Amino acid sequence: MFIKSNLPYEKNALEPYISEETMSFHYDKHLQAYFDKLNLLVKDTEFENKDLVFIIQNSNWWIFNNAWQAWNHEFFWKCMTPNPKKTPDWEISKLIDRDFWSFENFKEKFIDFWVNNFGSGWTWLVLDTNWKLEILNYSNAWNPLDTNKKILLWVDVWEHAYYIDRRNDRKSYLNNFFEVINWDFVNKNLLK
Ligand SMILES: [Fe+2]
Repeated sequence: MFIKSNLPYEKNALEPYISEETMSFHYDKHLQAYFDKLNLLVKDTEFENKDLVFIIQNSNWWIFNNAWQAWNHEFFWKCMTPNPKKTPDWEISKLIDRDFWSFENFKEKFIDFWVNNFGSGWTWLVLDTNWKLEILNYSNAWNPLDTNKKILLWVDVWEHAYYIDRRNDRKSYLNNFFEVINWDFVNKNLLK
């Protein structure tokens, strides 16, 4: 049986950027629904005792959509922190300067991609096979886990992630997300 991990901080810890109400709905309702559905779908199948990545790589559409959403959210919480650095440092900072000229330019590009991610989906910062940073938009639950690209940072652009706080203003949600990015987690992913 799949059980979601605990949040790495309190539900009100990201305020005023992400509200406690949004975190409660997102973590308690939306994410729980993906786990409940996944557990229902894998019951008495070959996937029942497998891990999420195995299910994502080997199952059918309905099962892997829920497994993917479970995986995406499990790590999405770690992309945010109540004790953020205002700007990245260490290795990731050097790569951002090299590939996007400046942090401000990177932020603008990332938000622009994100705002233009049509419908529901996720936006990803990855390191491609040439060791270059790349921003990717994926629809629905899809993610770049099945590529050779290294996943560094990702953000949920489903409406359930921001509609309570920001209504239809996706861009202001993105600006707020930038205030709580966990750059230490991004660096850790880079050095993996
Ligand atoms: Fe979500």
